[in-house]
Amino acid sequence: MVRDENFRYSRIMTTVDISGRFDELLASAYDNDRKHVFHSWSAQGALAPVVIAGAQGSRIWDDKGNEWIDFASQLVNVNIGHQHPRMIEAISAQAARLCTIAPSIANDVRGEAARLIAERAPGTLNRVFFTNGGAEAVENAIRMAKMHTGRMKVLSAYRSYHGSTVGAISLTGEARRLDNEPGLPGAVKFFGPYPYRSAFHAADATEECERALAHLRAVVQGEGVDRVAAIILESVVGTNGILVPPDGYLAGVRTICDEYGIMMICDEVMAGFARCGEWFAVNNWNVTPDLITFAKGVNSGYIPLGGVIISDAIAATFDSRVYQGGLTYSGHPLACAAAVESIHIMEDEKVLEHSRRLGAEVIGPALADMAEQRGAVGEVRGLGTFWAIELVEDRTTKAPRSADDMQRVAAHCKANGVWPFIAGNRVHVVPPCNTPTDEATTGVNVINDALALLD
Ligand SMILES: Cc1ncc(COP(=O)(O)O)c(C=O)c1O
Repeated sequence: MVRDENFRYSRIMTTVDISGRFDELLASAYDNDRKHVFHSWSAQGALAPVVIAGAQGSRIWDDKGNEWIDFASQLVNVNIGHQHPRMIEAISAQAARLCTIAPSIANDVRGEAARLIAERAPGTLNRVFFTNGGAEAVENAIRMAKMHTGRMKVLSAYRSYHGSTVGAISLTGEARRLDNEPGLPGAVKFFGPYPYRSAFHAADATEECERALAHLRAVVQGEGVDRVAAIILESVVGTNGILVPPDGYLAGVRTICDEYGIMMICDEVMAGFARCGEWFAVNNWNVTPDLITFAKGVNSGYIPLGGVIISDAIAATFDSRVYQGGLTYSGHPLACAAAVESIHIMEDEKVLEHSRRLGAEVIGPALADMAEQRGAVGEVRGLGTFWAIELVEDRTTKAPRSADDMQRVAAHCKANGVWPFIAGNRVHVVPPCNTPTDEATTGVNVINDALALLD
């Protein structure tokens, strides 16, 4: 797909090109990147990044005029789509009022963002500690749990991602942790439920749930029930496979935590803010954790923001005791103004409902058809705008498709106007939560065509 000659910038960007240098900058973007930018999670020598020149809604386009539907929402964070005009106005208005102020000072948009977030959280989670992103949210959640309980161990799941700072990567249950070891003392792993590749030889989701809970209880007991400060888990596992917990699992974790005085931390950095069709994914199962971490979809990453939502009981610990944690930019006014506007947009434009409907009526059924048609599909799973297509060599052995096969799928998608999210042997279907129905349909059709290459 190629846009017309005015493709480069949205109208609003053009009006703020005060320096008149945008064309010049764009022309040197690739060279500057290759000479001076050090990229995440990469061997630097092999990189050849696309230069994105602009974006609008669910679409992004490059400096050559190629356009894609953003079926990755970048890093599963642009939940309300790109360049939402109300967001640009809100950020600009706040920039004109007050760009920055120290975290120790009361600030109107910071307070309003905290109020709006707390009001949407379950139970008595009424306080918000703001961070700049997800990893810092996780670091602070475990610090709060440790200080509150006076214990030092934190349990987390294999097949999880919690961020790349020391504590968060130590809790991460996948290969990215390995080069970061030795990590945080007291970080212990358990297996969560994954019926398709059960660690418990379970026959179905119900049995998987029971066995995963029995295993978790055994791990807690093995580690010493009075040593465990927290169990942290992604309410719906994101990067490691979009693993939707079987009904009863999160409630079962809550029960174990209650029994032993352990804090339950739900990491909703990826799953929150409409991604799973609710403000918080836990709302799908009516479970109330002690702490929720959030980031990404809270303001779609227009300005970096994350945080921890804190129960009254944990907050009370710090009424008289000093909380030994802080950040220069905690509750940054520009980021908080973006969060306030994003929450209003989600409400006014019924983004949660739209995400739910896309999952139930568009993406879910299309993926189920795909699973019937395409032999390479082992399983499809998800909810809202949070789906995975798991690709296998053979449905009986479930051997994962190779990296080469995944590259072929990705290349076909990109050549046909869809920017995919590939993780291991899976294609994740994670467009903005407000993607128009026709674009969502186009996207899944392109993926379906790409899978024909593997038949
Ligand atoms: C569940 C989860 N937790 C934490 C993080 C880390 O967030 P950040 O990259 O903003 O530090 C991520 C990022 O993908 C995530 O998916």
